[in-house]
Amino acid sequence: MSTLLYIKANPKSEGLSRTFRISDKFIEAYKEHNPDDSIITLDLYKEGIDFLSEEGVNMHHVEPGEGRNHPILKYAYQFLEADKYVLAEPLWNSSIPAILKAYIDYISVANITYKYTAEGPVGLCTGKKAVNITSRGGNYSEGEFVIWEMGDKYLRTIFGFLGITDFTTIAADNMDVGQDTETIIAGAITKAQELAQTF
Ligand SMILES: Cc1cc2nc3c(=O)[nH]c(=O)nc-3n(C[C@H](O)[C@H](O)[C@H](O)COP(=O)(O)O)c2cc1C
Repeated sequence: MSTLLYIKANPKSEGLSRTFRISDKFIEAYKEHNPDDSIITLDLYKEGIDFLSEEGVNMHHVEPGEGRNHPILKYAYQFLEADKYVLAEPLWNSSIPAILKAYIDYISVANITYKYTAEGPVGLCTGKKAVNITSRGGNYSEGEFVIWEMGDKYLRTIFGFLGITDFTTIAADNMDVGQDTETIIAGAITKAQELAQTF
């Protein structure tokens, strides 16, 4: 039995996020194929994730096992103990919503999710997999704006740093440029449902 952590980063009300329309379908299909797995939904806005305080920064290098019940470090342990991750966020100003960056600052903690060695830092979240589900106003999958995309790229990089190199992206592009958004979303949902069968 696996534990899947569903990390949601969008303040929009229920049903109004195009990104969540896709990611929720992934979760629905995943549940159908893995009825015994545990799914933890972490809505970062509902959790009230905040920017790191001075105390939070000072807690960022702990002794192994320390701070399991700490209000910030508990997220790092929860992250470490999951087997699979589903990220869902829109592209905001070429990157991820700030609350998701704040969450990454909560979970990236030396001696919990990575450690320092003589050869440099080593991720401790190995043998796990992630999918990032995103939607974006323009097209960042191909063409001149690919280099403007720093959200999915950042997440892929930081997950790799933590040891998670099995990282897939499902993106619904061209949401705000007058194209048929329903067809694009339907295509992304199909991809999400297919991946959910083998994830
Ligand atoms: C604050 C903000 C910043 C945005 N920045 C970008 C951007 O840099 N590039 C882009 O293509 N779309 C941008 N968008 C558009 C969203 O990525 C797009 O509408 C997306 O589909 C929204 O997903 P949602 O319905 O899940 O919120 C931005 C939207 C908002 C609200």
